[in-house]
Amino acid sequence: MKRSCVYPGTFDPITNGHHDLVRRASSIFERVVVAIAGNSHKAPMFSLEQRVDMARKVLADVRGVEVMSYTGLTVEFAAKQGINVVVRGLRAVSDFEFEFQLANMSRHLSREIETVFLTPQEQFTFISSTLVREIATLGGEVHEFVHPLVNAAVRRKLAR
Ligand SMILES: Nc1ncnc2c1ncn2[C@@H]1O[C@H](COP(=O)(O)OP(=O)(O)OP(=O)(O)O)[C@@H](O)[C@H]1O
Ligand SMILES: [Mg+2]
Repeated sequence: MKRSCVYPGTFDPITNGHHDLVRRASSIFERVVVAIAGNSHKAPMFSLEQRVDMARKVLADVRGVEVMSYTGLTVEFAAKQGINVVVRGLRAVSDFEFEFQLANMSRHLSREIETVFLTPQEQFTFISSTLVREIATLGGEVHEFVHPLVNAAVRRKLAR
């Protein structure tokens, strides 16, 4: 069986930090399923279809990557894919508490699931989708933090 992992998130929108993490995951795993969550308590800037479409285009250059959407529990989505490894990113100590809680809850829900943490290259540690959305909404430049096609999509979205 191929060594596979699921990398779940909202990806609203996908950033250079996400891209860096997917690249790292693909150097370890033969198959990386980027799983974009449809059910989020966050009100998204982009629809699920738009988020999937952008992620597919941005990640087209990374080997072994598939982008899928899902609703429901991440552990159940992973099980359906026959995958027992979940990859998550740690940017700073501030991510740790929530990620640690989530990893333990995943393990509680499904004994088979292992969560693996990866850290991005230094220049990506301060990038989040939330900050990208906030900066863009306030009229700031985000082209350094996202792929050009995402930058264009953000601009189009805000021009409306
Ligand atoms: N710049 C980054 N470097 C490393 N990991 C990241 C980065 N941005 C997000 N991640 C990780 O990717 C996973 C999915 O993240 P998510 O979709 O919530 O992105 P986010 O940037 O945190 O968005 P939001 O601000 O909306 O929460 C999480 O494990 C998160 O820690
Ligand atoms: Mg987040």
